[in-house]
Amino acid sequence: MKKILKSNKPKFIIRHATKKDVSQMLKIIGVNNPKYPVSVARKEIMEMFSGALHKPIYLVMEDKKEVIGLGGFVRSWIDNNVVNIFWINVKSEYQGNGIGSKLIEGLIEEIGKLGKPVAKMVTLSTNKPKFYGKFGFKKISPKYDGNYILMGKVLG
Ligand SMILES: CC(C)(COP(=O)(O)OP(=O)(O)OC[C@H]1O[C@@H](n2cnc3c(N)ncnc32)[C@H](O)[C@@H]1OP(=O)(O)O)[C@@H](O)C(=O)NCCC(=O)NCCS
Repeated sequence: MKKILKSNKPKFIIRHATKKDVSQMLKIIGVNNPKYPVSVARKEIMEMFSGALHKPIYLVMEDKKEVIGLGGFVRSWIDNNVVNIFWINVKSEYQGNGIGSKLIEGLIEEIGKLGKPVAKMVTLSTNKPKFYGKFGFKKISPKYDGNYILMGKVLG
């Protein structure tokens, strides 16, 4: 299994996902979340190519044409100033190399570029609250869905 050495970090590229990336994105999601139905994940990812008013936007991290991480966001219907982040996933052998951090920073940068209404808050549901705490996300609720906690970050 490929393990990236911190001393030998290759140059990763962060960019918007395209249709060609979908199968690799689903593979990473499948390995990291074996209990989550792939058919549902596929529908969620494919929504970015739909005609929905609020379409999700996904970013991928690439290493030599290979997708090694992903993350997405969509504007909330309930409050257009709120944006939900989801599916931040890094390929297992690439974890611990700052890729998840770069994906969060990239997603927040993209959220900042959204047109009016300007995004004022980002929320996410996670079982890794310590990881997101590093980026200023605070707990909104205690565990409410198994081990998952709702977290939020006010922008600006
Ligand atoms: C959680 C995940 C996205 C982190 O990505 P990553 O590329 O491994 O993380 P980074 O290398 O950017 O780590 C950044 C910091 O977060 C910490 N961190 C990473 N994973 C963590 C975890 N699971 N719990 C707590 N802290 C974590 C790192 O130690 C690092 O800390 P440092 O800055 O003090 O060194 C990745 O491990 C992953 O895909 N996990 C499986 C899927 C998952 O759980 N996704 C999130 C569900 S909401």
